[in-house]
Amino acid sequence: MDSKLENQLILAAQTAQENAYAPYSNYKVGAAVLTASGKIYTGANFENAAFGAGTCAERVALGAALAAGEREFVAVACVGADVSITPCGICRQALAEFGDMDVICAGENGEIRKYRLSELLPHSFSM
Ligand code: THU
Repeated sequence: MDSKLENQLILAAQTAQENAYAPYSNYKVGAAVLTASGKIYTGANFENAAFGAGTCAERVALGAALAAGEREFVAVACVGADVSITPCGICRQALAEFGDMDVICAGENGEIRKYRLSELLPHSFSM
């Protein structure tokens, strides 16, 4: 993935992060998925007074892409307070449904770490 596209994806995730609704954890996350067709879909986490009703940014972005008919993904970027952010276990499984992809994690200070999804979730469940 070229660095211009990578920066674009991170920027899209950063913009979405601003719209996160996280009044309980105060941990705002933004995510962006890049499709094989070159489109970007974004998401942000949203929380709820009934804690289990909240959803992570990555699955919001994935859902937006799926609802638009996308099924092939090249990369996902997620932005949190610091670079230690990685997609949670449920999000890893949700993304792995659509094959392997680059995972780009960025902190608010611009530090970046890159992974492959298969590295974060080896032996993912599939049917
Ligand atoms: N969260 C995400 O949106 N993505 C992640 O990768 C990790 C965690 C959200 C869920 C919850 O709203 C908040 O961050 C704190 O866990």
